[in-house]
Formats: sequence, structure tokens, C-alpha cells
Amino acid sequence: MDGDMDNDEDLTPTATLAKLYEDQGFFGKAVSVYRKLLNMEPGRADLRRALESVERRLSGPKSRPVQSGPENTAGPVIQLERVAAEREEMFDQTVFEQTDEKQGKILVIHGPNLNMLGRREPSVYGNATLEEIDKEIEKAAADCGMTVETFQSNHEGEIVEKIHEALEGYDALIINPAAYTHTSIAIKDALLMLEIPIIEVHLSNVHGREPLRHTSMIADVATGQVIGFGKDSYVLAVIAAARMTGHASLGAPQV
Ligand code: DQA
Repeated sequence: MDGDMDNDEDLTPTATLAKLYEDQGFFGKAVSVYRKLLNMEPGRADLRRALESVERRLSGPKSRPVQSGPENTAGPVIQLERVAAEREEMFDQTVFEQTDEKQGKILVIHGPNLNMLGRREPSVYGNATLEEIDKEIEKAAADCGMTVETFQSNHEGEIVEKIHEALEGYDALIINPAAYTHTSIAIKDALLMLEIPIIEVHLSNVHGREPLRHTSMIADVATGQVIGFGKDSYVLAVIAAARMTGHASLGAPQV
């Protein structure tokens, strides 16, 4: 059974798979599948209940201490208990390693000309530089118990390649594709591969501007959009990412 479970990254996340993991005692894997499902269908109360129940089992009391006694003299029952306790301990370690490893990493991508923020049309985009905005994003993520990596490029291909990196090791993507929002099928296609929440961000209210900014190539791929709140659009997106990935309960950003 362990062998089958090793290649689980390839398995389609379903409630049945989650239940199977749970029944087999693979609680970390069950949590991971339930979270993926909830990312896809955040409104599913049954999945949330199931996730909470497995999380409770994860954080519940550890295995009973093994009865002490000289090696090799324990009777069969105690031997069995020892084996069970050792298995459980190994299991706990694996589970916690897996959960820590996958916990809370957001990728933030900024598109072209956003490196010029502070100097670029301040009446539209505000006075903050990208560096200052990135610091606020990092702080908001830390307040939510998450880590963040920020990336900016003026080149479409580089943005596409960065999105490819988000196929592994990230729990959510926040992206402001800037002008590419309105033109880039390549960015849309790259985003279509991701299974994590995608939050589209814009500093300005694009719908209150010229008609060419009213269309977003990625709107239908994004999980949601945060538009028009200046640099706070990013902070709000971090909160949304944290909540969608089950981290918001760890703390809310301090303003
Ligand atoms: C923007 C809006 C886009 O229309 C524009 O091309 C940008 C920035 C925003 O954040 O408001 O570069 O994405």
C-alpha cells in the first residue's frame, strides 16, 4: 500500500482519495487532498468538516508510551504495542514534515513597468515604490503565518517561466500581469496549468479607465480579483490567499 501511496502527486484529488488516506492512517496526505479540494470548492462545508476532523486527529494526543521492560522479554502483546507505537511515531514525523514543507508559501508576480512604481503616474498608481510594496506584502504574509516570494519582470516569457515554477512548492499565486493582463494568451495558458488559488491584482480600478483595460485575459482563470485599492490590493490578496489555504486563523495582518 505504501508503494501505491508514494506517487500520490499524480493522483487526482477526490473526496474518496482523501477518505482512503484517512482510513489508512495517512492523515497528512488526507489533509493535503482535502485542502486541494477546498481550494477548488471553498464552499463545501462537508469537505471543511472532514478536513477539520483529520486535523484534530493530527494534533490529538500522541501514541501511548510503550511499556518499559527488558528487551526481548516482552510478551507478544507488548511487542505488538511497541511496533504500533513506533509506526505511529514514524508516521507523525512524516506527516509533520510533509505539512511543514507544504505550508504557506505565496508567489507574487509583478508584470511590466511595475518596477517603476513611485515614479510612474503616481496619481494613478500611488507614491509607493515596488520595494516598499513588496515589504508590505511580506509583512502581511508573515502576519498570516505564511512566507512569500516576490518577482517582477518586464518580459512576457520570463513571467511565463516563473508561473511554471509555481507548479511546485507554492500554495497560492498573486499576480498583477500589468499591461499583459489585457493581451497575453501565453500568461493565461501558463496559469491554466496551476492547481493552486490564483489571485489577480491591480492597483488601479481598470474598469474605470480606458476601454482597452476593461478586458482581462486571465479573469476566467483566476480564482478571484482584487482591483482598485492601490497597494492595499496586494495586502487584501494576501489575506484571501491565506484564508483559501487555511492559514488566516494563524493571525490577521496588522495594519
Ligand atoms: C495595472 C493596470 C494595467 O492596465 C496597467 O497596464 C498596469 C498596471 C494596475 O495594477 O492597475 O501596468 O495592472
